[in-house]
Amino acid sequence: MTEHPSAAPQGKPTSYSRVTLSRIMTAVDVNLYGTVHGGVLMKFVDDVAGAAAARHSGGTAVTAAIDEIVFSEPVRVGDLIHAYAQVNWTGSTSMEVGVRVMAERWDSAETEPVGVATAYLVFVGVEVGGAPRLVRPVLPETPEDERRWREAEIRRAHRLARRRAIQDARGESG
Ligand SMILES: CC(C)(COP(=O)(O)OP(=O)(O)OC[C@H]1O[C@@H](n2cnc3c(N)ncnc32)[C@H](O)[C@@H]1OP(=O)(O)O)[C@@H](O)C(=O)NCCC(=O)NCCS
Repeated sequence: MTEHPSAAPQGKPTSYSRVTLSRIMTAVDVNLYGTVHGGVLMKFVDDVAGAAAARHSGGTAVTAAIDEIVFSEPVRVGDLIHAYAQVNWTGSTSMEVGVRVMAERWDSAETEPVGVATAYLVFVGVEVGGAPRLVRPVLPETPEDERRWREAEIRRAHRLARRRAIQDARGESG
């Protein structure tokens, strides 16, 4: 487990990293079935997550891994989508960013936005030359932020265990 950062004065609260990105889906975004292509949403998710990671870490951050992306409802041409991102967890040089994507249906403006995707991405803060750099801790502010921090730790533990297991199975070290 990474040490909880609540005592670190130089950290930034979770809310500091929050970024929202919005876009209307058009005909160039669709797949053969007429709904929005998953790759379009993945780029959108990566863009908003990258902005949150850069804001939190105060510099350049690159996508190291996309841990999980779930598409829960189709998105259609004309829908106004909003992606909400925040840094959930920080390690030494890496950060987990959570993203939630909501859609306002173009043909039912009076109804509540629908959740269409969620994703968890790992970003690493990097120097100009591309080497990892230390990032300041994120400071969870609310019980919800605390829950996200704990769940990010679980995802990281699973990711590291899976990598180790695969390396062991291949007879690799490190
Ligand atoms: C991401 C990158 C900078 C990591 O460099 P590296 O030398 O392997 O870094 P390290 O092994 O020292 O690990 C650095 C951190 O990244 C994390 N990390 C590295 N690879 C990871 C992976 N596949 N998944 C999750 N985290 C990862 C490590 O856990 C470590 O976190 P910590 O410092 O918080 O403990 C490097 O792999 C890279 O440049 N990748 C290409 C990034 C890219 O081009 N992205 C797409 C465009 S933005």
